[in-house]
Amino acid sequence: MAAFRKSGNTASPDRSSAAPPGACKPDVATTIDEVRGRVALHRRRHEGAVGLVPTMGSFHEGHLSLMRAARAETEFVAVSIFVNPAQFGAVEDFDSYPRDTGGDLALAAGEGVDLFFITDSGEMYPAGHESTISTGSVAEGLCGQARPGHFSGVATVVAKLLNIVGPDSVFLGQKDAQQVAVIRRMVKDLDFDVEIRVCPTVREPGGLAMSSRNAYLSPEEKDQARALYLALREAREQVAAGETGAARIRRQMRRAIAANYLVELEYAKIVDPETMQPVQEITGEVLAAVAAKVGPARLIDNMILSP
Ligand code: PAJ
Repeated sequence: MAAFRKSGNTASPDRSSAAPPGACKPDVATTIDEVRGRVALHRRRHEGAVGLVPTMGSFHEGHLSLMRAARAETEFVAVSIFVNPAQFGAVEDFDSYPRDTGGDLALAAGEGVDLFFITDSGEMYPAGHESTISTGSVAEGLCGQARPGHFSGVATVVAKLLNIVGPDSVFLGQKDAQQVAVIRRMVKDLDFDVEIRVCPTVREPGGLAMSSRNAYLSPEEKDQARALYLALREAREQVAAGETGAARIRRQMRRAIAANYLVELEYAKIVDPETMQPVQEITGEVLAAVAAKVGPARLIDNMILSP
């Protein structure tokens, strides 16, 4: 059954190698059966909790921070790498999305990952696949407006990964706050037996949230893209200082971002962190969320604001 490879060999899925389970350190799997076999072996040995870090690869410090959190909290860390076509729109960057599996494995080499699941559409969506997760109101606003179907694609692949790996905990980044909210809702609604751990957004030294899509930016675009972070930080300061009007905060964020001619704002919103519904009067914790086109990249960022 299971065919495992040592990491760092080749960059593409390879189903040809065959080694008995446990014969070598099973750290790269390309099929669902291999993953299940490896996790089952761990469970049979009663070696502790399993953590899952789902990713689309092209690792940066944000991804590595999730692996470190998983390493610290669970005994067996599985990281999936799959650029999921179901969450990209027809005119989005699926084809050009950065892919560098060899580089990813080298970057993550020191993070103590037990199993990489590096897979493809043939394995995840074989011919005949047609069932998907239907998301609700939590997926409709913010990025859901510009990216119809995106969160259904995310929820479907995350549901599949949870069923394949069967982790005790799944590690997600606060950078994608709406994604976290959608997955929380799905886990609750569909009774997945998994704990969701959310890790803070990792930023470049100037404040720009790390993203695989930052690779698309020129130095000038990258510099202007910091406006998203700076606007969020100003909003946080205003709310901490007693501002309660969401409309005023939104206006200020828009003004701050508009001063940067390379940044084309898509939205600047204040929402409930759990439901993603708009908030008018800030009386408790809220989420400020922004999205913008900067050159070829669509960037998002967010911050929790507390009165
Ligand atoms: P991807 O964009 O590769 O991100 C994988 C995980 O890394 C997500 O949980 C994301 O929130 C987190 N992440 C990204 N940038 C981060 C940053 N700067 N700081 C902290 N965490 C960060 O998100 C996806 O892939 C996909 O939608 C996926 C969940 C894998 C489903 O296909």
